[in-house]
Amino acid sequence: MKKIIITIDGYSSCGKSTLARQLAEQLNYLYIDSGAMYRAITLYFIQQRVDWADQVQVKNALASIHLEFVYNQISGRNEMFLNEENVEQLIREMLVAEKVSEVAAIREVREFAVAQQQKMGVQKGIVMDGRDIGTVVFPHAELKIFMTADPAVRVERRFKELYEKNKNVTLHEVKENLELRDYIDANREVSPLRKAEDAIILDNSQLSMDEQLELVKQWVEDAI
Ligand code: C5P
Repeated sequence: MKKIIITIDGYSSCGKSTLARQLAEQLNYLYIDSGAMYRAITLYFIQQRVDWADQVQVKNALASIHLEFVYNQISGRNEMFLNEENVEQLIREMLVAEKVSEVAAIREVREFAVAQQQKMGVQKGIVMDGRDIGTVVFPHAELKIFMTADPAVRVERRFKELYEKNKNVTLHEVKENLELRDYIDANREVSPLRKAEDAIILDNSQLSMDEQLELVKQWVEDAI
């Protein structure tokens, strides 16, 4: 069967990665979480005390970063490796979430990540989620989805997810972080979060996971 590229963009915590992963599994496609790459770059900048206001430091730091997704047989998921180290857990922490949108707004950082993302799609058969996948990374993708959900639903979802790992996290800080990231992502100069003109809007505030998947599988059939 013909393989296509599926892009899923949208605001933070709309459930993009859950849908992308389920779709990839069902279609036997590769799933790439582009946000993990920006998170890993941010982690490196924090760890190495890179001053990201300084272009030279940014360029030098990027030259020392090797990113790779490695499949974990046990979890059945692709995990993010930064310079051969598994950082899948670390990149999900608040420390990274607080800075990632600042780092992802830097032109050089985006060029670095986008070039790698485009290579991953050369063979098609890929589902990638992020903020600029349908607009910049794969503007000719066969199926583009733009996800939205009620802000209160999104905060609640992300809070539950983070609280399972860290009981100190508060609803207030999660809400503030989502609002700030969405604001920076939608208003940055380089590749701001936008719905591609030919993207289909998926508002999943009132949809169960199963309903959502059934709906999108129909869109995939239509696109193939
Ligand atoms: O998807 P996730 O919430 O993990 O992404 C973390 C951050 O990475 C986003 O808030 C955004 O700043 C950045 N990002 C981006 N472009 C992408 C994916 C993520 O700017 N394609």
